[in-house]
Amino acid sequence: MSADFGQSWARFAFATIAVGSLAVPTLAQSLRQEADCRGVLIGTAVRPAQFSELPYTTTLVREFDLIQPEDVMKWSTIRPDRTTFDFTAGDQVVAFAAAHKMKVRGHTLVWGRHNPLWLESAHYTPAELSALLHEHITRVAQHFRGKVFAWDVLNEAFDENGKLRSSIWYDQPGIGLAGKGTAYIEQALRWTHAADPDALLFYNDAEGEALNPKSDALYAMVKDFKRRGVPVDGIGMQMHIFDLHPDVPSIGANIARFTALGVQIHITEMDVALPADPDTGNLRNSEDLLRQAAVYREIAAACLAHPGCTAFQTWGFSDKYSWIRSYFRGNKGAALPFDEKYSPKPAYRALKEAFADASCDR
Ligand code: XIL
Repeated sequence: MSADFGQSWARFAFATIAVGSLAVPTLAQSLRQEADCRGVLIGTAVRPAQFSELPYTTTLVREFDLIQPEDVMKWSTIRPDRTTFDFTAGDQVVAFAAAHKMKVRGHTLVWGRHNPLWLESAHYTPAELSALLHEHITRVAQHFRGKVFAWDVLNEAFDENGKLRSSIWYDQPGIGLAGKGTAYIEQALRWTHAADPDALLFYNDAEGEALNPKSDALYAMVKDFKRRGVPVDGIGMQMHIFDLHPDVPSIGANIARFTALGVQIHITEMDVALPADPDTGNLRNSEDLLRQAAVYREIAAACLAHPGCTAFQTWGFSDKYSWIRSYFRGNKGAALPFDEKYSPKPAYRALKEAFADASCDR
């Protein structure tokens, strides 16, 4: 079903309205209601510093049933120094989720970036780093046990050619498994599983959404892990989109091949960055908003077409708080479904229609 409700979409009621003797399905009031029967969690990244901003929380609670801390479960927040574990902000995310019947994805236990300076600069030996990582994973996963239902255990371990990236955890100097391929990834998954046997464990990355050398490498890794019983439950496809014409059939085929291995797919960080003028912040072309809407619709539909795609998450929800503008020094922006004043954009309506179009028994 697709309908052009113009600006008045919000006045339409949930379930059905009677037109003559016909019951005509209408769009539900929120994404969350629309996703409910379809077995897909609808999520977004959050910044707990914004929980005191009423339009932020109103929109968040109305539209989403899954949240993931954008930054506050990273090493950079949790580990201000070698001995401290600061769970304050992460706990705020968990408490917010519990108060509003939402699930929480954890992000992230092992990443070569956004690590604290004390960790990067201390020149630890592999044995020391191994002990540090084991301790970190164990403490963090145990702390959030029963509260975080799925972890991005590892983030961005492969480059765009499908080779393992150099990182403090892999080979600089690494945890003692440098040159042994995906063995350090396996080790991190096993430590996380030992600390929280009930959490779903994900490997999360960008650039491997479509069929390409990187997703081939991820596929080979997951196939090997599944065959040997390494605890991996899913692949997170970040889905940061900068090119407004992604190869959606290829993304669909990639989702299909991973889910056929018996792992879940979560779309974890979707945003669609639009060209902007760095001086004024204005979009270069207002028609891009419609193209952006089409991209959101097509990617959501690709996820919904596969029962193994079980969560669809955006990286923030309002253009007021998005990493895109600073990452692209103002040359791109407006990447999310709500504008800076929390008004829904065409992308929001497109997402809702994609969910409405999907069957409730996928
Ligand atoms: C970004 C956050 O959005 C920023 O606030 C932070 O400054 C840097 O990290 N891929 C990821 C996310 O997995 O953790 C990144 O988040 C965006 C790219």
